[in-house]
Amino acid sequence: MSVLALLLAALLGSLLGGQIVGHLRGLDLRRSGSGNLGATNALRSGGIKMGLIVLLIDAGKAWLAAAGLPQLVEQAPIWLPWACGSLAVLGHIYSPWAGFKGGKGVACGLGACAALLPIALLWGLGGFVIVLVLSGYVSLSVLTATVLITLKVACFSAAGLWSLPGAFALGMLLLLSWTHRENLQRLLRGNENRFEKVMLIKP
Ligand code: G3P
Repeated sequence: MSVLALLLAALLGSLLGGQIVGHLRGLDLRRSGSGNLGATNALRSGGIKMGLIVLLIDAGKAWLAAAGLPQLVEQAPIWLPWACGSLAVLGHIYSPWAGFKGGKGVACGLGACAALLPIALLWGLGGFVIVLVLSGYVSLSVLTATVLITLKVACFSAAGLWSLPGAFALGMLLLLSWTHRENLQRLLRGNENRFEKVMLIKP
């Protein structure tokens, strides 16, 4: 049964909010804005409503994978929620429905963290808001949040880094750094897209 939960987690993760909502709205996020299928680009290209719906779908599916699927398994092993959350994020990033080039795993990581590391997530969200307000870069804010979540687990929790929570947080940090490699290059070159307030008032 654990194997079935793992497969369902990867399948859930592979269903991309940006692709589904984009299809319904006749908007191909691949050809718009940053070209990413995630919530930030949905907000940038399709407006606040589309951004929020994509965020909810992508975060919701990862939360469901990490918090819900293990409940269906009798005597689920202790690692199952962490593995289901990780597979949902990996399924999202390497979605076969998007030619194995899905989203960057941010909203998905948020949903998985909400289920698995809710206190550390609060640290991350605090850092996200502060860096976003100060810099205007969503990517930098996301990476800061991921670093803070890892630090919280590694240094300020009983589990420490060499544990399931530690491995999950470190894995997310490495994975999201990889998916944001182009954002990092743009940040270094000084031409990364900024979060514009106008994105919030676009219908
Ligand atoms: O949601 C991913 C975010 O960190 C960056 O997205 O579209 O600006 O590359 P984007």
